[in-house]
Amino acid sequence: MSDPSIRQRKLDHVALAMSDAAVSACDPGWSDVTLVPVTLPETSPDDVDLALSFLGFDLRAPILIAGMTGGHPDVEKINAALATAAQAHGVAMGVGSQRAALLDPDLVPSYAIVRQHAPDAFICGNIGISQVLEGETGTDILARLVDMVEANALAVHINVLQELVQPEGDIKPGGAFEALGNMVAKSPVPVIVKETGCGFDQVTANRLKDTGIAAIDVGGMGGTSFTLIEGMRAETARDRRGARLAQTFSTWGIPTACSVLEVRDTGLPIIATGGISDGLQAAKALSLGAHLVGIGRKMLTAAVAGPEAAVEELGLIIEEIRISLALSDCRNLKQFATRQSVLSGKVALWQAHKQLTKSADGSDEKNIGGTD
Ligand SMILES: Cc1cc2nc3c(=O)[nH]c(=O)nc-3n(C[C@H](O)[C@H](O)[C@H](O)COP(=O)(O)O)c2cc1C
Repeated sequence: MSDPSIRQRKLDHVALAMSDAAVSACDPGWSDVTLVPVTLPETSPDDVDLALSFLGFDLRAPILIAGMTGGHPDVEKINAALATAAQAHGVAMGVGSQRAALLDPDLVPSYAIVRQHAPDAFICGNIGISQVLEGETGTDILARLVDMVEANALAVHINVLQELVQPEGDIKPGGAFEALGNMVAKSPVPVIVKETGCGFDQVTANRLKDTGIAAIDVGGMGGTSFTLIEGMRAETARDRRGARLAQTFSTWGIPTACSVLEVRDTGLPIIATGGISDGLQAAKALSLGAHLVGIGRKMLTAAVAGPEAAVEELGLIIEEIRISLALSDCRNLKQFATRQSVLSGKVALWQAHKQLTKSADGSDEKNIGGTD
């Protein structure tokens, strides 16, 4: 059953996400993470190998182009440009929620285009926790989601606050862990659970791990904020309640860097998404324990300008990661993972709080804390 309001919402989201007003006023935490420079390194950027295996798939760099779009014919070009960049650089890519195409098969091409332009890339499908809760992810639906983009994994997005702010939102999260466990058991591909701007806490991450999911994308606070985007939509629709709630809760969430600290003890592969716009920030996220970094808005803006711009932007980010590792005198991600970053400000306080509340069997902390 086609729903024109979903199509329109997909377009609204892309247009509004391009505005600076869609970016959280909160810092994702990167300014509180310092990589320790090796003043005279013996590694040059050309020596650095960023290759890794993620969920059994070989990537040339630790990047996921965050799942953003699909669901309207006008966004097909954006997905094609993002996919061109993913294919060119050998990184992973997600698509936006595929629910629109489940309801209206005419919209399938706006997602399927990704596989045409990125035949060899790791592609991640996407569906909402609401659909999982409502039992809309039976075996046949999961097969449709995977087939649509020949997905290597499926992401389930969680966005409780966004749903509470949206006039059309409707979520009753009780039962989510059981429903996810059932979905994971039926899914033909690994399931990744992602937040979309509020981050994950440790307790939720541990419960998610027990459902059998394969990875967590922290989707932390500090980048694109769907609370702000829904607030803008509410203003336009003269929805006073939505506008008010979006304003009140605009800084609700866990900054991305802090959320990586929250979830890393799960031992699951971690994707750090939320407010990463260059390769140095990406390297800082990796230094905290992330395995991949997710990049949304920065790549969206480039992709709107066309495939060449998307390929160039992604190339620059990868070069910046390479330089960050070379300046740390590391030749690969494994070596880089053994280095300690220095934490300050909010991120150090977050770490200190975690150490205070850590259970007796807690593992050793990796980073040096300090509140300089
Ligand atoms: C226009 C737009 C649409 C998005 N749609 C989805 C979606 O359908 N499903 C999802 O899981 N995340 C969605 N996201 C969230 C991104 O995957 C990512 O978590 C978020 O943009 C934070 O990263 P950033 O700060 O680098 O933009 C969307 C983001 C943007 C900008």
